[in-house]
Amino acid sequence: MKITVAAAILFLFAASSWVSAQTAPGNPRAGLAVYEKHCLRCHGSNLDGKGPDSQDLIVRPANLQSVNSRAKTDWELLVTISNGALFTPMHGFRGKLTDQQMLDVLSYIRSVAPFDAVS
Ligand code: HEC
Repeated sequence: MKITVAAAILFLFAASSWVSAQTAPGNPRAGLAVYEKHCLRCHGSNLDGKGPDSQDLIVRPANLQSVNSRAKTDWELLVTISNGALFTPMHGFRGKLTDQQMLDVLSYIRSVAPFDAVS
């Protein structure tokens, strides 16, 4: 019992630091390679949502540099990267990318468009 409680506390501690961390525990350099391969065609080389394929989409890719996207937490962005956005061309990358690759690409995004709650 004691061990279970300790494990649960440890888990909550680890999970909450991950969820609340505004600096993603990923590698932005590795993330750039993931971004160029899987995201650039829609979100564009400047993360402004104007990639080469973006014109063809009914729901335009998010401008990850926008005030709106920058105000979202790492966790919110990660959920969209992993699960996708319903009824849009943004499909989920879970299964296509490893967890580490998703953290890497997130940290690349944050290195270019840092979290900013108040801008
Ligand atoms: C086929 C085009 C396409 C590709 C490829 C794509 N996205 Fe998206 N993405 C979209 C669209 C469209 C939206 C906007 C959905 C909406 O308006 O709700 C979006 C939304 C997002 C959001 C949410 C932004 C916000 O402010 O909530 C994130 C984060 C994101 N994409 C990251 C990525 C990453 C990382 C990759 C590559 C691993 C990627 N996307 C690949 C089209 C794409």
